[in-house]
Amino acid sequence: MKQIVPILLVLVVPAWYVSGGHLFTDGHVNGHHKLEARGEKLFHNYGQYLLKEEHAEFVRPDWTEATRRAKAWLHGWSVEDLVTLTSGVGWARDNCVGNIAAIPHKNFPGLCLEDSPLGVRFADRVSVFPAGVNTAATFDRDLMRRRGVALGKEFRGKGVHIALGPMMNMARVPEGGRNFEGFGADPYLAGEAAFETIVGMQSQGVQACAKHYLNNEQEHGRRTTTSEVSDRTQHELYLHPFLRSVQAGVASIMCSYNLINGTYACENDAALNGWLKGELGWEGFLMSDWEANHSTESANHGLDMTMPGVIKEDGTDEFFGNRLVKAVKDGKVPRERLEDMATRIIAAWFLLGQDSGYPPVNFNAFSPNDTANKHIDVQADHHQLIRKMGAASTVLLKNTRAALPLIQPRSIALIGSDAGPALKGPNWYPDRAGLDGVLAQGWGSGTADYPYLISPLEAIQTRAREDHTSLSWHLNDFDLQRAAHTALNKDTAIVFIAATAGEEYLTVDGNVGDRKNLTAWNAGDALVEAVAAHNPNTIVVVHSVGPILMPWVNHENITAIVWAGVPGQEAGNSLADVLYGDWNPSGRLPYTIAKKEADYKSRIPWDHQKVHYTEDLNIDYRGFDANNIAPLFEFGYGLSYTTFEYFGLHSSFSDDFAPEAANWMAGLATSDTTKRGSAIEDWLHRKIWTVTFKVQNAGAIAGTEVPQLYITFPASANSPPRVLRGFENVMLRAGETVAVDLKLSRYDLSVWNVEKQAWTAPGGSSIEDKTYTLHVGASSRDFRLKGSITLA
Ligand code: BGC
Repeated sequence: MKQIVPILLVLVVPAWYVSGGHLFTDGHVNGHHKLEARGEKLFHNYGQYLLKEEHAEFVRPDWTEATRRAKAWLHGWSVEDLVTLTSGVGWARDNCVGNIAAIPHKNFPGLCLEDSPLGVRFADRVSVFPAGVNTAATFDRDLMRRRGVALGKEFRGKGVHIALGPMMNMARVPEGGRNFEGFGADPYLAGEAAFETIVGMQSQGVQACAKHYLNNEQEHGRRTTTSEVSDRTQHELYLHPFLRSVQAGVASIMCSYNLINGTYACENDAALNGWLKGELGWEGFLMSDWEANHSTESANHGLDMTMPGVIKEDGTDEFFGNRLVKAVKDGKVPRERLEDMATRIIAAWFLLGQDSGYPPVNFNAFSPNDTANKHIDVQADHHQLIRKMGAASTVLLKNTRAALPLIQPRSIALIGSDAGPALKGPNWYPDRAGLDGVLAQGWGSGTADYPYLISPLEAIQTRAREDHTSLSWHLNDFDLQRAAHTALNKDTAIVFIAATAGEEYLTVDGNVGDRKNLTAWNAGDALVEAVAAHNPNTIVVVHSVGPILMPWVNHENITAIVWAGVPGQEAGNSLADVLYGDWNPSGRLPYTIAKKEADYKSRIPWDHQKVHYTEDLNIDYRGFDANNIAPLFEFGYGLSYTTFEYFGLHSSFSDDFAPEAANWMAGLATSDTTKRGSAIEDWLHRKIWTVTFKVQNAGAIAGTEVPQLYITFPASANSPPRVLRGFENVMLRAGETVAVDLKLSRYDLSVWNVEKQAWTAPGGSSIEDKTYTLHVGASSRDFRLKGSITLA
């Protein structure tokens, strides 16, 4: 064990350390020379991590050949065999959470479908990656991609054909139980994260599954409520991450439990045949969420596969299977439609090369002691990436009086159960539905079993040993007196609080998936106040699935606030890397933290079956901007241990002479919008504007900035005040300057024109009608540069 610790430390120190970026300028050394020396070695390791293979190009795969092969192979198959491909075998009747039966006389081995978006669920010797929301918080496409690759490897290693992720619902309501699985509250950010994740996963030959399509924005009444959403909002907001998934070549998509404008998502013709397979021209297959299919008729409306399939012993709840066979024979579902369903499923299988050399399923999700479970270790060195992403997704919200980074403190007190290990072990609660020890994922199907879980206490002890720091701790959230006593007379008191949430089939402390309020759990606020009252250098660490209220935020004794989210199995190490400055904080908030609960305007209507998305496009920061509400910490916000300056913005246009341009600019439909794939045509997505500016690291240590581009559309567009349309992640040595290019397409400057049913510019002939304002800066409110683009 002793041998391993130094190696771990070496690997996670960021590459920029080798530049000798001086972390401390005031004469403190804090062993950073030591780190530099290690850094030399580190660079090699880090370099190796970027092996070419890891970055295999797999963007926008060509379905033509896969579809042709599928059609040829399926030619002449019986209705029964074709239906077998479309119908799950039933819950817990085979090894995976979803299974398509083998067809031995066709040499078809069957398909294994398995959760989750952050790791292989119900399996051992797998990793628990940072959740989707932390992935988004990195604002780092390279890390997103590498996480996708690593996930892909783990699913493949276990023999899973279809990994049930990523999840890309939009965190419309802050209390949404499954928000942690998704990529935050902005469609552009979620779209980029979805794209990179899918490309990464599918580069390993695993089929990704983009879910949940569409408007599954709350757990409350998820099977019975209808999401009432305007056409424009669907297109510009909720569909966007799915459009990016289609561009990434996603093999499968899962339709959701809820109804969309009065019709179940899995039989909503407009959403399935219209948008997904029509406008987006998507050629993969659509599966139902588990028991989200309510008819056989759904096949005619675009559903290709039902999951989990047969529910009762006598098959009476089976909507596909025998009933689909009969429906096809009775002419109620055309045979061509059934062939199309099967073709899509087999085309995806061919597309990912799963027809030869794919590892057999080697675990049993429902029975860990079954001989089917070969306990294959798929973790490889993924703990390094997980630790790094945990650090890179940690958002520094407040840092005063140089509270952080920690510089060889004489004494530290750690307060709160979230600082320590789970007393019952990390996997005690089914699907993580509980709060015990450090929180590093939410609960529900979007989870995996921890192989181990590093708590802050363990990680900080290692540092205490190095620094000769006296460490005290008190891991009880309710004994405020002792907490205060432990915090007394310590250099630093770090108080840990948490809030969790999950899927509605499990209830924790009265939270039926969704959170019933936005406060810290276990009387966390009282704990923070008690500690802050007794220690003038109190640092608050938050592990949370989403925003919480922080009534103590301005307490003068609270010198720093560190937002760690749900970072996965290396939670403690990732946090320690940030606290001690081995990782200069670079995470940015993927949602808004409000001053008070009432400031969130989109909430769960607890008593209603109709969920009216009345805010339309104005979710999260867009709503705060539109309603002139000052948030506590805005979307895109995050501090660093250094500072950055921005200058020299200009934009340029490279004409691609697209024949569609004139119509588009005039606000007219440019091509036949009923044509399949009209929304992903090249002329619409080619990046023809470039916004260029410079960012300088103005501080004395190396660090990472996340410059963000927000756009104000012409007033006639009636769009939110500002929308995110670009970001970059730049690592800069002290004093270094870099030029950043952010590129825009016509799509990026389009509105969904409801009347024309097309993507167009807002139209209008005045200069104002054609002018977009550009805001470049460090968050959705901290703008440093301004410019404009005028369509000409
Ligand atoms: C969830 C899906 C999940 C499926 C299979 C459903 O309840 O909504 O996200 O993939 O179960 O476990």
